Amino acid sequence: MSMEVTAWTSLHSAMNAEKSRRPFSRVTLRRIGGFARPHRRKIGQFLLLSVAMALLAVATPILAGRVVGAIVHGDDAGTVTRLALLIALIAVAEAGLGLLTRWLSATLGEGLILDLRTAVFDHVQRMPVAFFTRTRTGALVSRLNNDVIGAQRAFSNTLSGVVSNIVTLLLTLGVMLSISWQITLLALVLLPVFVVPARRMGSRMAGLQREAAAHNAAMSNQMTERFSAPGATLVKLFGRPAEESAEFASRARAVRDIGVRTAMAQSAFITALTLVSALALALVYGLGGFYALHGRLEPGAVVALALLLTRLYAPLTALAGARVEVMSALVSFERVFEVLDLKPLIAEKPGARRVPEGPVSVEFDDVRFGYPAADKVSLASLEDVAGLDTRGGAEVLHGVSFRAEPGRMVALVGSSGAGKSTIAQLLPRLYDADAGSVRLGGVDVRDLSAASIRETLGMVTQDGHLFHDTVRANLLLARPEATEEEVWDALRRARLDGLVASLPDGLDTVVGERGYRLSGGERQRLTIARLLLARQRVVILDEATAHLDSTSEAAVQEALAEALEGRTAVVIAHRLSTVRAADLILVVEDGRVVERGTHSELIAAGGRYEELHRTQFARAKADGEAEPVC
Ligand SMILES: Nc1ncnc2c1ncn2[C@@H]1O[C@H](COP(=O)(O)OP(=O)(O)OP(=O)(O)O)[C@@H](O)[C@H]1O
Ligand SMILES: [Mg+2]
Repeated sequence: MSMEVTAWTSLHSAMNAEKSRRPFSRVTLRRIGGFARPHRRKIGQFLLLSVAMALLAVATPILAGRVVGAIVHGDDAGTVTRLALLIALIAVAEAGLGLLTRWLSATLGEGLILDLRTAVFDHVQRMPVAFFTRTRTGALVSRLNNDVIGAQRAFSNTLSGVVSNIVTLLLTLGVMLSISWQITLLALVLLPVFVVPARRMGSRMAGLQREAAAHNAAMSNQMTERFSAPGATLVKLFGRPAEESAEFASRARAVRDIGVRTAMAQSAFITALTLVSALALALVYGLGGFYALHGRLEPGAVVALALLLTRLYAPLTALAGARVEVMSALVSFERVFEVLDLKPLIAEKPGARRVPEGPVSVEFDDVRFGYPAADKVSLASLEDVAGLDTRGGAEVLHGVSFRAEPGRMVALVGSSGAGKSTIAQLLPRLYDADAGSVRLGGVDVRDLSAASIRETLGMVTQDGHLFHDTVRANLLLARPEATEEEVWDALRRARLDGLVASLPDGLDTVVGERGYRLSGGERQRLTIARLLLARQRVVILDEATAHLDSTSEAAVQEALAEALEGRTAVVIAHRLSTVRAADLILVVEDGRVVERGTHSELIAAGGRYEELHRTQFARAKADGEAEPVC
């Protein structure tokens, strides 16, 4: 390792010093041990190699000293040649071992990254929807990337840095002291001159770096938000591009200024270090030469001392920052563990059951529910806030009860914000009820396995999200083993076959991020096709036909009616025309079921449903539609 690199590493660690002043628990250390354990053989080999490298590093200066000694004493040419050959051999061995050590540390480091990443990914995937609605995707991705890499880097730096540097330092110092303790001690006197200001500058640079990181984060947030298709549309419609640009430019300028200051501080540090070690070298030559002239030291010893000295400063500066290095490794590990420790609020019970065979009933039994408070589902550091909101969400559902008989259709209607989508989300366990029970086929959903729920229940959500992938991949998500004919059949029934056939790559056309290249209605029909393909026993349609014009709505309604045949369905709709045929209609207002019955019963009752119906009917008439909406 060159002196400059080591010096830079130690300065860099000093910069992280501030954030690492927290004491670390034994638990953290034990867990790191757990992650290191599968790699223990490689770690052992790595340590052995480090010691071997340190030994070789001390051998060369001693041999060089011997060569000078041989020359001064007028030994035969054979001795010099042998020594030179030995030096060459050591150089080759050092090169080979260096490569091997690097390979070991790279496989160790990358292996650790792999383990940590997959662990975090698997864990985050198990988190409930509430977690994702709160956390910022950017912060989560950065946890998976930066912190995992930080943990790895600090881990391998600590290994290679601390261990090999201690060995090198002790060996070099030992040899130097044995040659001349006076010169060695004097050469070390200069060290504090360099180490003390380096530490001070380290903390100043830490401040700069943090500032730059904040600016960088703000810039990337601005970019990811403004440069997504919906964000860009919003800026075009309502945004103030000049102000956006100015804000961005001022941040970018701040980053530039910090970059220049950091570069200058870095080079001042390296220059100072080079200067100090050069001065120490001058001291060794001066004092050593003086001793040699007076016959108190061999000339070869002076050369050996000088060469050893150049190898002494690098490990010394590296070790000056070693404590910090270890600490920052622990910080990164803790940030990763923090995510791993977040208990998923919704988890499968051990020994979870399957939904019973045959047609399935859907039941809500006095269900109460409020969206969970932030501190239950999230981490402050992932939300970009100092502390999490501990206030529980206000109750949204206040004792909802109903039963959809197997194979029957229940419709939910009511004002916007009444709680219809919330009711729908409790069925696939996107959230869990706070009180009461939600049952599928008579079994509480909390006792069912996630796989069985997925198999049984299909849902078309209000926003109809599609993955940035091909039409085929988006469809097969529901049933990977479906054949080509089945896919086309589903598309046909969702009245989407014509469109897909006309796309440039047909089924293999990639639908943009959030399916952006499809219209709202087309996107919705694609999610309906997915539902038709999956053929689950229970389907939930949340405003599934809201984006469709009257003609395609009628067509898709037909397809849905066919698909819903024999299945239990929960249908949410604003347009009452779509729910007229439901076996049971529930009017939901303010988180309560305020009316229930069939279309004709509710009309006859003359309540809220009748009122909704009358307004829609009047509007349809005013719009001059031939057929009223109901
Ligand atoms: N993720 C969430 N976190 C906290 N509160 C939420 C969340 N989603 C919805 N709410 C609140 O819950 C209440 C019910 O919302 P819900 O989405 O169930 O209404 P809805 O009946 O489906 O309305 P719409 O007809 O407009 O779709 C609303 O007051 C809403 O503000
Ligand atoms: Mg809704």
